Amino acid sequence: MPTNHLPGAGAGFLAYDTHRLALIEIGERIRDLDDTPALAYAAAEILGRTLQVSRVGYGTIDPVAETITIERDWNAPGIETLAGVLSFREYGSYIEDLKKSETVVVRDVGEDPRTRDSAQQLKAISAQSFINMPITEKGRPVALLYLNHCEVRDWSDDELALIREVAERTRMATERCRARDDLRDLAASLEHQVQVRTEQLRQSQKMEAVGRLTGRFAHDFNNLLTVIRSSCDLLKRPGSSEERRLRLVEAISEAVERGSSLTGQLLSFARRQALNPSALDVNASVTAIADAITLQVGPGINVVIDLPEQFCAILADPGQFEVALLNLANNAIEAMHGQGEMVISVTAAERIPATRGDPAIDGNFIAIAVSDNGSGIAPFCLERIFEPFFTTKTVGQGTGLGLSQVFGFAKQSGGEIRVDSCLGQGSAFTLYLPCA
Ligand SMILES: Nc1ncnc2c1ncn2[C@@H]1O[C@H](COP(=O)(O)OP(=O)(O)O)[C@@H](O)[C@H]1O
Ligand SMILES: [Mg+2]
Repeated sequence: MPTNHLPGAGAGFLAYDTHRLALIEIGERIRDLDDTPALAYAAAEILGRTLQVSRVGYGTIDPVAETITIERDWNAPGIETLAGVLSFREYGSYIEDLKKSETVVVRDVGEDPRTRDSAQQLKAISAQSFINMPITEKGRPVALLYLNHCEVRDWSDDELALIREVAERTRMATERCRARDDLRDLAASLEHQVQVRTEQLRQSQKMEAVGRLTGRFAHDFNNLLTVIRSSCDLLKRPGSSEERRLRLVEAISEAVERGSSLTGQLLSFARRQALNPSALDVNASVTAIADAITLQVGPGINVVIDLPEQFCAILADPGQFEVALLNLANNAIEAMHGQGEMVISVTAAERIPATRGDPAIDGNFIAIAVSDNGSGIAPFCLERIFEPFFTTKTVGQGTGLGLSQVFGFAKQSGGEIRVDSCLGQGSAFTLYLPCA
């Protein structure tokens, strides 16, 4: 049974019970609060009512300036608040004890040697009797729980134990709030850092792609110029046969042709191709292209077309559409290594699904899908396949310019190109083009 300074076991029991109730109430009130001033006030109020004192408050202390900052305290009726910044030295010398993290218990400020000289000032703030209990963090006092009473008052051991318990709970709740705030700040800052890094990465990847592109283009173009330059040099030499001269002129015109096809493909990727869109019968066009392909492929490859019953027309440049479809079909055939099935299907679509970060677009479109059961595409390649010069094929086999043409053409025509692929199982490229 806890002891109490009040005489009689009955009174002791009563104090014990009300203290326990106060702790339960504080526990419940501060559990739902999540800012320090609010939970400090809730604890002060319950403590003040339970112990029937004049004032209870909680403040942060600055041991160097020897001040306390009080946001809000609980006051009994008729008692004024101490909210604000107060200087300890104006009220005595007990700050010395607080700095040593010792609790100061004063029964009567007129008697205590630490407050005798400043008793008037203390009585003026309704603190003839008080308890100042420092709240420490890492051994240093950071805050203070104070109880003031306007008359001389004895403080029992039980009361001190209760105050200490409340101080501890308030400290823990405050720390929990701060930890949560710190965590929230950290999360926000991490999110921000990730955004910044992602943007930097995206930017550097873009620069890298532009670098590769320029490098490849310069290299290919230089090769063509070398052919032209050396042919010109040879032509300037006297004594070449007519036949030889003709071969050199032929080489020059071939290089010029390849150069213009190179710039043409780049222009189409850059969507700067001069397009001549016209209404195009998709079924007829697809059939003609599929027939041409069927004649070229080996016996192990099956070419299937799947067309809708109704007539449908797209608005697109017929020449570029044919090139795009051939590029897709060639890739499909190359991916099957002589064995497999390629399906070209045509369907009407009422929207283009969201693609590579671009939002979905509603409208009337025709979807032309070229699918194969070939090698499929590795996930790390998928991001780059539309990049000009990106190829996984050996030199002489791939230029890396097929899909960049398809991409540029689709975009410039107000459509889209989408890819679905599963490594080892096959790929499907779907070209969306607007209906005429
Ligand atoms: N149907 C497909 N199946 C597997 N891989 C494909 C397919 N289509 C394209 N690719 C991949 O995309 C790359 C780029 O294609 P493309 O731009 O046409 O250039 P190229 O065919 O000259 O390599 C190919 O090298 C290949 O790795
Ligand atoms: Mg290709």
